Amino acid sequence: MIDQKIKIGQTVLKSPIIGASGCSGWGPELIEYNKQDIIGGFVTKSVTLNEKIGNDSPRIKEVSSGLLNSIGLENGGLDYFIENKLPLLKDIDCAKFINLAPFTNEEIHIMINKLEKETGIDGYEINISCPNIRKDGFNINSNVKKSVNLVKDIRKLTKRTLMLKLSPAFNESFEIASIAEKEGFDGITFTNTYLGTAVNIDTGKFVFKNKVAGLSGPAIKPISLWNVYKMANTVKIPIIGVGGIRTIEDVIEFMMIGASAVQIGTALLVEPTILTDISIKLKEYCKENHIEKIRDIISTINGEEK
Ligand SMILES: Cc1cc2nc3c(=O)[nH]c(=O)nc-3n(C[C@H](O)[C@H](O)[C@H](O)COP(=O)(O)O)c2cc1C
Repeated sequence: MIDQKIKIGQTVLKSPIIGASGCSGWGPELIEYNKQDIIGGFVTKSVTLNEKIGNDSPRIKEVSSGLLNSIGLENGGLDYFIENKLPLLKDIDCAKFINLAPFTNEEIHIMINKLEKETGIDGYEINISCPNIRKDGFNINSNVKKSVNLVKDIRKLTKRTLMLKLSPAFNESFEIASIAEKEGFDGITFTNTYLGTAVNIDTGKFVFKNKVAGLSGPAIKPISLWNVYKMANTVKIPIIGVGGIRTIEDVIEFMMIGASAVQIGTALLVEPTILTDISIKLKEYCKENHIEKIRDIISTINGEEK
């Protein structure tokens, strides 16, 4: 019997495979295609305090081995989420993380305080790294002082699992992760998308109204893998590795290099059952390689131990 369980904060994942924010819908859409008793869980699309209509179209462009997106955090706001989406999550039996995207400290306090009154939530992934808000791709993540201020007072608001989602676009992310660790966060989700762009050569203009967009998919995998390695040498709390994962081999690489669990985003848009498929393959891999506990793979690169 292979033990696939991974613990992040208060949450025990049945498998280290999680659906990434923005590509897992609000949960039920993902569970239509994936088995809740096999996968680790999912992260909802980002919720902001107030409704956001998102960016003008086009919002998505396929590029070589990847995807550029400029969604701009479209969602109905926290109250809409609590009333219309959260009730649908309650009967789902895998880890359910709510991705919260605050613009100020006050906003994250209001959001967590409201959600603490609700059930059916395993934890929060705080997203300060969305590249699709400003025209230069900057966000709270690009400013250490703002990030530290935001991260500081969150732990006392909840006993639920707390993860911080950071950007690979700013070196500041490593310093911010260290501070989040000291402030009691349970995990670092690394990485969000990379800053990229595209030009429409017929019009001579940027494809996206915001100019900049977020690059995801297989194109970013080797860079994310390296970033996760660097992050694993920065913090001791679990790292949830994200970026271009699409195969069982990718998952093993991320875990060997230091990730305790992984999230899959863009690949879900192409292979909607991928979370179940990879969770099953992971078990087979363990059996073939005489690995009893999946967590024994974590940080085994070059014999290094976490
Ligand atoms: C269409 C799309 C929408 C996304 N929306 C969000 C979002 O709302 N919040 C968030 O934290 N990340 C969002 N992401 C980023 C993903 O969660 C993930 O960090 C990133 O795409 C890298 O992983 P991947 O290469 O497996 O897609 C989005 C990504 C895509 C492709």
